[in-house]
Amino acid sequence: MNAAEKKVAQYLREAHAGEQALIGELRAQLEMTPRGSYRTALEEHLSQTRDHAARVGERLRELGDARSPLAFVVDTVGAVAGQALALGRAPLELLLGSGGEDQVLRNARVAYAAEALEIATYTAIERLAGAVGDGETATLAASIRADEERMLERLLREIPKLTDAVVRAEARADPSFDVQSTI
Ligand SMILES: [Fe+2]
Repeated sequence: MNAAEKKVAQYLREAHAGEQALIGELRAQLEMTPRGSYRTALEEHLSQTRDHAARVGERLRELGDARSPLAFVVDTVGAVAGQALALGRAPLELLLGSGGEDQVLRNARVAYAAEALEIATYTAIERLAGAVGDGETATLAASIRADEERMLERLLREIPKLTDAVVRAEARADPSFDVQSTI
């Protein structure tokens, strides 16, 4: 690989690590999310994220990136993506006494932040790949970014509904569901 190809591959590895981190996050979120429109969005978000990881991984193979899949996991930006996901986590003592609705709303905010990070990443990849003449990677990045932008808007539309559920649970002191029952 020449220097430009190496730089594109590096950014793609970072994007791949971010998608992998998000797959883990969304799987964990699904376990505590009751049926409804947010759960449906979450299921689609998970399958879309798996598709993105596969497409980015395939492009890396086409570019001749020989690093093992394990190397993706320890990539620096993978760690950054993990930190971004962790930012949305409240300290455990704050969560004690808060309901499942609170947790689901918090999860949705974390997913939204992760999606915004991915949009920034793919915007940079599209620009970089275009600048070094790798039209195929630029097209892939633009296509994935468009998916992320649609998902970002969809997640934002869920936030008021999830907040209403928190309000209802607080007002009635009667949670609409028990986190344990969704597992
Ligand atoms: Fe994605």
